[in-house]
Formats: sequence, C-alpha cells, structure tokens
Amino acid sequence: MTVDTQSRESKTAEERAPAFPTGDEVIARVGATSRAQSLRDQMPVQGLREYWYPALLASEVGRRKPASRKMLGEIVVFFRGRNGNIAAVADACPHRGAALSRGDTHFDGTISCPYHGWTFDETGELLAALGDGPDARVAGLKSSRARVYPTHVLKGVVFVWMGAAEPSPAEEDIPPEFFTEDSLVMWSATEWPTNWRPSMENYMDSHVFYVHRNSLRILGLPARFLSSALKLGTGKINTKVINGRALALDAPNAFMGLATTASLAKAKVQAPPQHVFQRLDGAKWPATRSRLWLSMLIEYLNPPKAKPPLETNEEWKAGMHLPGWISTDNSAFMYRRMVVPIDAEHSRIVYFHTRYPKSALKRIWGVVIFHLWRNWSYNYNFSGQDGHAVEGLYYDTPENLSGSDAYPMAWRRMVVTWGRDFLRPRS
Ligand code: FES
Ligand SMILES: [Fe+2]
Repeated sequence: MTVDTQSRESKTAEERAPAFPTGDEVIARVGATSRAQSLRDQMPVQGLREYWYPALLASEVGRRKPASRKMLGEIVVFFRGRNGNIAAVADACPHRGAALSRGDTHFDGTISCPYHGWTFDETGELLAALGDGPDARVAGLKSSRARVYPTHVLKGVVFVWMGAAEPSPAEEDIPPEFFTEDSLVMWSATEWPTNWRPSMENYMDSHVFYVHRNSLRILGLPARFLSSALKLGTGKINTKVINGRALALDAPNAFMGLATTASLAKAKVQAPPQHVFQRLDGAKWPATRSRLWLSMLIEYLNPPKAKPPLETNEEWKAGMHLPGWISTDNSAFMYRRMVVPIDAEHSRIVYFHTRYPKSALKRIWGVVIFHLWRNWSYNYNFSGQDGHAVEGLYYDTPENLSGSDAYPMAWRRMVVTWGRDFLRPRS
C-alpha cells in the first residue's frame, strides 16, 4: 500500500480535518426554505398549545387541597371531581379573578375559591356562591363557569390539554407504554431555569462528550460507544418525519438510543481519538487519555452485544416527538425526557423510565434499580449537566451554526412545519 506522506505533511491540520459543513449548508441539508434563525423566531415562546402534556402525578392531588402547576405560561389547578377523575381548571376565578389554586375542597368533587367561596365542579359549573348564600343568582349561569381543561390519567400521571381546538387523540401525543398493562412506567421531574426551546434543542449535537465527559454514564461506556459519542453530531445525519409528529434519527455516529442496534455493536473496536488543536498551540483534547483507556478496559471486560431495541413502534422509538419528547432506547428500558414549558424562562423536565417486567420479582427489581441508581445516574448526574449547559442560554442573539447543529435545526423545522399550532392557526 502506498501512503502519500508528502501531500499529507504539506497540509495543515485544519485541511486534513473532515470538512464540516457551514451553517448555511446545514440549513440546506435540513431542507429549510428560510434561515434557521427565522425558524427559531417562529417557535412559540410559551410552547405549543395544541398537545397533551404531563402535568403531575394523580397522587399529588389532595382530597381537600387542590394542586397546581404552571404550564405554557398559565397556572392550572387540579382537584378531584365528583366523577372521581382528576379535573383541571384555569387558576383565575371567573368572579373577580382570585387564584383557585389557593382554594379548598369543602364538598367532595368540588373546588371553592378562597375569596367569596364560589364553588365549582369538574365541568366548571358554578354550584354555589358560598359567600352570597343559597339565593345567589349567579349559580348555574354560563357566564359563571370556570375554564376547564380536559385531562387523562394514565399510569398515575395526569395529562392535560390546554389547546384551543378539540383535544387530539391521546395516543398521538403520549407514548404507547402508557396504554399497555404490562409496562412499568416510573416518573421523576425537575426544573431547568431556561426556556423550553433550548431545553429541547439539547439533543444529538456535539455537546454530548464535552458536557457529559465526567458523567458516570460516559465514564462507563465501552470504547466503540465512546468513539461514536466523540463524533456525535458531526457525521452524516438523516432525519425522517413520521406521521407529522416524530423526528426519527438515523445517524451512523449516533450512539444513545441507537447503541442497541447491531451495526454499532458490531463496529470495529478502536481506541477513541484524542484530538490536536493547532490554534491552541497543539493542545490536546481530551487533555489526557485516561477516560479513553478506561473505555478500552470496559470494552475488554464487558464488550457490548447487539440487542434489539425495546420499542418497535417506529413513531416512538429513539428520537424527538412533538411537542417535547426526547427518547432513548436502552434495550432494557426506555428513557424519555419530556420538556414541559413553564414560562418564558423555565422548563419542567419530566423523565419517564419504562420497563416491561416479565414477573412480579422483576417488577420490584425495576422499581428498586430506578430509585437507587438509574434515576440518579440518568436524571441527576447526566441530565443535570444538560440543565447546567443550557441554563440562562441567550436564545435571541445571532447564532453561527456549525455542521454539528443539523439535528436541532431539523427539529426547529419540524416544529414550525408540523406543529398543530401552525397547522391549525387560531383566529
Ligand atoms: S373572586 Fe372567586 S369567589 Fe370571588
Ligand atoms: Fe446531553
């Protein structure tokens, strides 16, 4: 084999580096007709409204005290209705605007406003105005009704619809494990002090190895997975919109969520690279090879095997899904992260960890391992690093895209092209 050392040496390190596309090429690649920044500017600040969102656990809604959550810029109040279901109403009392979230349940299945005692049922009907007495003429009037939001309780999680249109079928917005009996779905939630848009765009770009380099998840990766993490976002990336709701990911270098595929498990094992940066006077990154050798050791001790993905439903496998789902298929369990917009500056990050245990013992094991280990390693240790990276991100300053931004840009395009809020513009 002849090696052309002459021409190699005559090139600078930058010339030898793989050609990364420019930001404009990225945009051309995702097929956008306008610049990514204009896509960004079209994304609604308070989130897409025409979708089902997880709000809280049914167990958090008291029998005597309502529970409330701020979502999509508004406070929603949850109480137990007369039909036994969890009901949701807008916070502002239709009388003079007092906060129903500060109210009480004096009578089963109702909520009473803390100011003059207007008392509503789960349909929003005003049953009584306690302060006015039994002859109050406002009771039963259409104009006295509280604004109600439709709810669904699935696997103990309350989902709410805050859209202006009729609710879409829940199956379109909520993953399939919520509708099957044999699944074990566990929940954990936190808040990030940043808007929902950067919270969502924190996926499948080149941040993974950099941001998460000291997470236990990355430190425990075998070499061939770490190699792919190092290249994440920089290789060719193909995306596919499925049913107008999911942005499926198909990238040779993607590792999380695709790590279970046979192709990656069969990939050639090689020590993950340490890059040299000429403009940093030849400095190396990672600075030492300790993490990289650790990955080779793990590769040797515990080589990854080709395992089938857990989720076979194409729409809900690894990737992104409207209005704010990110999914990673770990073969043994499905990990989903849902970004629920709170307001312009805050997002609620809800984690769902799903298994399909085949026995009662395995079910108990699934609960124990989630609470003792997975929740910490995935949701606190690993995802907490994402939260730190995007906290306070300036989403309105000019951007200069790199080739590794292709997937988040495809997501922006997906939102403004397929988001129901754009398909069903409100008058
Ligand atoms: S403001 Fe709610 S009862 Fe008066
Ligand atoms: Fe991340």
